[in-house]
Amino acid sequence: MRPAARGDTDRGRAIGSAAPSGHGIGLAGRIGGVFGFVLAALPFFVVETSAADPVAAPIAAQAEAAAAPAPVAAPRGLRGDPQAHVLEEIARARTRSSGIDRATPLERGRRIFAATGGCTCHTDFPGEGSEAPALAGGRALETPFGIYYSTNITPDRETGIGRWSLEDFTRAMREGLSPGGEHYFPVFPYPAFTGLSDGDVADLKAYLDSLPAIRRENRPHDAHLPYSFRPLLAGWKWLNFTPGRIPDDPALDPASNRGRYLALAAAHCGECHTPRTATGGLDRSKWLAGSREGPEGELAPNITPDEKTGIGDWSIPDLVWYLETGLKPDGDDTQGLMAEVIRHGYANLPREDREAIAAYLKSVPAIENRVRGD
Ligand code: HEC
Repeated sequence: MRPAARGDTDRGRAIGSAAPSGHGIGLAGRIGGVFGFVLAALPFFVVETSAADPVAAPIAAQAEAAAAPAPVAAPRGLRGDPQAHVLEEIARARTRSSGIDRATPLERGRRIFAATGGCTCHTDFPGEGSEAPALAGGRALETPFGIYYSTNITPDRETGIGRWSLEDFTRAMREGLSPGGEHYFPVFPYPAFTGLSDGDVADLKAYLDSLPAIRRENRPHDAHLPYSFRPLLAGWKWLNFTPGRIPDDPALDPASNRGRYLALAAAHCGECHTPRTATGGLDRSKWLAGSREGPEGELAPNITPDEKTGIGDWSIPDLVWYLETGLKPDGDDTQGLMAEVIRHGYANLPREDREAIAAYLKSVPAIENRVRGD
């Protein structure tokens, strides 16, 4: 990881509401449906529900309330400084001029790739270490229902996604459907990626297409019935997934909306850090409040601004630094999947994107939820 000067962020306006507002049917009503019986037994804990979730609206409202007292944008030592707003303006101008619009599709695609955490679940680091062929799949993603193997997303024409059209790729990312029309297991976080813009999806594909093609057959999943039965996923989606872009929050300025967009649609922080309901959807009443059963059985900590059980005592510069280096304010380093998504993803983002994500995190409602044993 690249070293960086610590504590030098100068932008930190409260960013965004916690989650986009939902428009789904009430969850209880849905559970009563035909699929409820089987699906209640489907807590895929490596899944994220749709951005447009039935319980998201109240959360968004809470978040708006919480957004007001969130930390100020000034760098350390300058809080309350009358010149803070000037610094903020400079920072905003810098974000505007960061060249997103002028960049080539490949450059933009690299940036979105970094924002996803580098698609690191598609590289088998735990099995093959640093020798693992990048993005060629085969990583075992363990769940209580069996083992799902990630797929080859290199441009190899036989074993990867080299034959996919942009439409195929877009449908996979936005709707969770394979080119052949099969449902993907929500181990693949399409409920988050559905919020990506068409342009970002196209740029991401351009970037993936530019990487070396690696020939490597996909492994069949090792899950047991009914968890291996794809048609049931239609029911899971009905309960837990509403495809569609995350609309901008009109209350926020463009830079703030970017932080929210990056965190929700691309970086899929909620995928790991939000606990699940009985049907395997995200429990949005505990948005980012930590999960004992994160991917690969890892505990994902509470990252809401709660003082006791979350990261209320982390400053925005602490967060920006963490997302670049994996170093926590107390000097601890990071393990497991979080270390991977930082190293292969978030660390490679332009700093203003990490700042935007950090400010968004500070704006979500603080939720007391102890997931750590201590
Ligand atoms: C693939 C799963 C995954 C994703 C995606 C993910 N995290 Fe994490 N995160 C973890 C795990 C697991 C840990 C615990 C790491 C450890 O114990 O060292 C963690 C730790 C953290 C911590 C340290 C908290 C503490 O109290 O020590 C922060 C902060 C954090 N993540 C923020 C984020 C943000 C912000 C995002 C999105 C931009 C994100 N994470 C995306 C899995 C994930």
